[in-house]
Amino acid sequence: MVSPFDEVRESVRRYCEANHDFSFDPEQPIVRLHEPTFGADEISAALECMLTTQVTMGPKVKGFEREFAGHFGWSDGIMVNSGSSANLLALATLSNPAFADRLKRGDEVIVPALSWSTTVWPVVQMGLIPVMVDLDPATLNIDPAQIESAIGPRTRAVMIVPVYGNPCDMDAITDICERHGLILIEDCCEALGATYDQRPVGQFGAVGTFSFYYSHHMTTLEGGICVTNDPEFAELGRILRAHGWIRETENRQSWIDKYPDIDPRFLFVNTGFNLRATELQGAMGSVQLPKLAGFVETRRSNAAWFRRELDKFERVLEFQDETPKGHHSWFGFPIRIRPNADFTVADICTHLNRANIETRPIIAGNIARQPAMKTIEHRVYGDLPHADHVMRNGFAFGNHQAIDEAARAYIVDHISSFMAERQIGAA
Ligand SMILES: Cc1ncc(COP(=O)(O)O)c(C=O)c1O
Repeated sequence: MVSPFDEVRESVRRYCEANHDFSFDPEQPIVRLHEPTFGADEISAALECMLTTQVTMGPKVKGFEREFAGHFGWSDGIMVNSGSSANLLALATLSNPAFADRLKRGDEVIVPALSWSTTVWPVVQMGLIPVMVDLDPATLNIDPAQIESAIGPRTRAVMIVPVYGNPCDMDAITDICERHGLILIEDCCEALGATYDQRPVGQFGAVGTFSFYYSHHMTTLEGGICVTNDPEFAELGRILRAHGWIRETENRQSWIDKYPDIDPRFLFVNTGFNLRATELQGAMGSVQLPKLAGFVETRRSNAAWFRRELDKFERVLEFQDETPKGHHSWFGFPIRIRPNADFTVADICTHLNRANIETRPIIAGNIARQPAMKTIEHRVYGDLPHADHVMRNGFAFGNHQAIDEAARAYIVDHISSFMAERQIGAA
């Protein structure tokens, strides 16, 4: 049977075929930090939502939540409008009066100094105190020994970030959390597709978060999700996601029975936000998810190749080591300039940028050094020398699904020509 959408799908397919070639062109070389992971199928799926006018959160979002949670092995997923919102929802749920043994104002949450702004801001927004600790220079991830030393009498939780998709040392971190009775929150917004000891990241603590921002491993344009194996956390999260409303809850009837005098269509049982994703995002997510493993595989094989080719400059460049037991999903390819090098990160980035190879800092460097921290009550554990080194001497170039053999060779050729200009030979 011909579907009413067939014509639209065909037009979209033709448009994308004619206009969407994101592969590397040696005639006009440019290597961006990101290229779109979505194509005609995702665009058609989103357009169908528009054409049916079913655009606000509904069955497509619910379907995607089930697929995502089921694919990786969580009981529940709560889709939201960004990874930042997923972090906010995670912290808000854990701090809500309805949550058993909740986080309370003034409690401390240990966070990595090398993290994104909205890893830390939700901690602050819930009246909690972030405690910044340094990283392990081999993996770039939060150093478990530093976590343990930073624990104080008010420490209640640890929030970790698998940096650029490199899983953290989960044996050590879960052991510390168990011994000290700390809640573990995993901000996996740049680590989709990564595993530790064969288990997906985000599965080791109370809650995990992921981002589906345009530049990430898979996308719903903007978007994110909180994942958990705790149905009570999930139910509360759904309420807080949407106004404190019961509308999207699994146990809607039990709420209605509890408050028979209030119109069940507009029953608010808690405070909340509006962090909802749209149907367009849910529909796109369902098309993207089956492609994820292929995207991650390309990133992994490119990263292995970059490392092999660039290891000869190991005297002046430092690389990120994959965590033992970890399966890294390589959000980008981060490099640090060693202190003994006679060039700066600006020198090498300028050289690459002139050749149309985009670069960026590693996450945002040491978040403790950002001006916003001056406005925030927080604690810094130690001097954070490794996070400072990343901030001053780190950069990354793109390592995504559209980087092919020609693109990766182009990058390495330009790093090699930079080294040759400075007469830095292979080690
Ligand atoms: C570690 C980390 N947490 C949170 C976020 C926020 O995700 P979003 O951009 O979807 O809000 C990012 C963004 O890249 C991130 O890298």
